[in-house]
Amino acid sequence: MKRVDDFRLHLGKHELVPIMIGGMGVDISTAELALVAARLGGVGHISDALVHDVSDRRFDTSFIKDKTKLYKYNINNSDKTDIKFDLDLLAEATRLHVGRTMDAKQGDGMIFVNCMEKLTMNGPRDTLRVRLASALDAGIDGITLSAGLHLGSFGLMEDHPRFRDAKLGIIVSSVRALQLFLRKNAKLNRFPDYIIVEGPLAGGHLGFGLDWAKYDLHTIVAEVIQYLKDENLAITVIAAGGIFTGSDAVSFLEAGAGGVQVATRFTVTKECGLPDDVKQEYFKAQEEQIIVNTISPTGYPMRMLNNTPAIGSNIRPGCEAYGYLLDGNGNCSYIEAYNREVDANPNNKDFKVMDKTCLCTHMRNFKCWTCGQTTYRLKDTTRQLADGSYALLSAEHVFRDYQFSINHEVTLPE
Ligand SMILES: Cc1cc2nc3c(=O)[nH]c(=O)nc-3n(C[C@H](O)[C@H](O)[C@H](O)COP(=O)(O)O)c2cc1C
Repeated sequence: MKRVDDFRLHLGKHELVPIMIGGMGVDISTAELALVAARLGGVGHISDALVHDVSDRRFDTSFIKDKTKLYKYNINNSDKTDIKFDLDLLAEATRLHVGRTMDAKQGDGMIFVNCMEKLTMNGPRDTLRVRLASALDAGIDGITLSAGLHLGSFGLMEDHPRFRDAKLGIIVSSVRALQLFLRKNAKLNRFPDYIIVEGPLAGGHLGFGLDWAKYDLHTIVAEVIQYLKDENLAITVIAAGGIFTGSDAVSFLEAGAGGVQVATRFTVTKECGLPDDVKQEYFKAQEEQIIVNTISPTGYPMRMLNNTPAIGSNIRPGCEAYGYLLDGNGNCSYIEAYNREVDANPNNKDFKVMDKTCLCTHMRNFKCWTCGQTTYRLKDTTRQLADGSYALLSAEHVFRDYQFSINHEVTLPE
């Protein structure tokens, strides 16, 4: 009977433990969490979502305060076209977050940054170009392109000196999305180093519609592997979404995946950025509490706990401070939903906005409890304490459990 440690993930000259901890935006996958994965010989992700805010918290900078001050005049204006990101400051914040993380890296593993295309930042191309270039400048080992088709993202990096040496990968949920990406980038003569195939049970945004339950990760992984074989492309495939035990991981490694990407089991580790009381909500969650809805202004369905404070919240759009989801024209679907409800409720301040949420503000405050479909099983991965709460785990414990366990067993902490 095999275990994950019997396999190795090969990326160029690197030989890694085939476990990636997935990117979890707004500092849920912290540098500390990514550093554990790298120290243990696997791959960790940080995320560049709301990077100014993450930098302020990590390094005591004042990017958000300064931006809010600059655009204070606009706070009561529903037109957000003025809110622009200063590209030099974006580069500075990214270099700080990435650079300091890389400075702290130990061990043979790698650290990648998760870069979501849907963070359109009221200037999609320019801001994405700066985010990618500054992460490469700051020495990131690799970039995972996510939340979007990224048809132009390789092109934005092609003149960077590290374009061919850094590891570059993309998250897809279908062969079709992969085909589109490869076709669009054929002329660059640079293939991705890895493809993460993310199935319908993942946390965060989904590459599926509300009919996500009809899809199955094993099937999509097999289709992608077959497609790459037919095209004579030797690109490593990483399976992601709902892989809860080492044995789950082995089933994908035996089917030809080079590695797995996992996230949910790390949301209840000490190194994860969620506040401790939120980690307890994840532990306590029952299966029926885990829902997929369309409140994210990105347009992608998102999985979360049904007691997420962000659901129904009527908070004023936080674009002056954040504004990461403004499309290139200063629009975000939450602004429309919010204004509609304000107009419909002239004498009521307690109205609800049910169809969309202010994702920037709520992710920043850890009030949008996005999670994977297996979250309800987290309580079985630890011990309950005398006061009824659940003991947090160390990231090393969870990583090693994936690496060495057999028989679908989960080792409980001491
Ligand atoms: C709390 C949480 C936040 C996530 N945020 C992001 C994100 O910001 N960007 C992204 O590409 N994927 C995100 N994901 C998806 C993970 O990186 C990963 O691919 C997936 O959740 C793996 O499935 P698992 O959670 O069942 O192990 C998130 C997942 C979780 C659980």
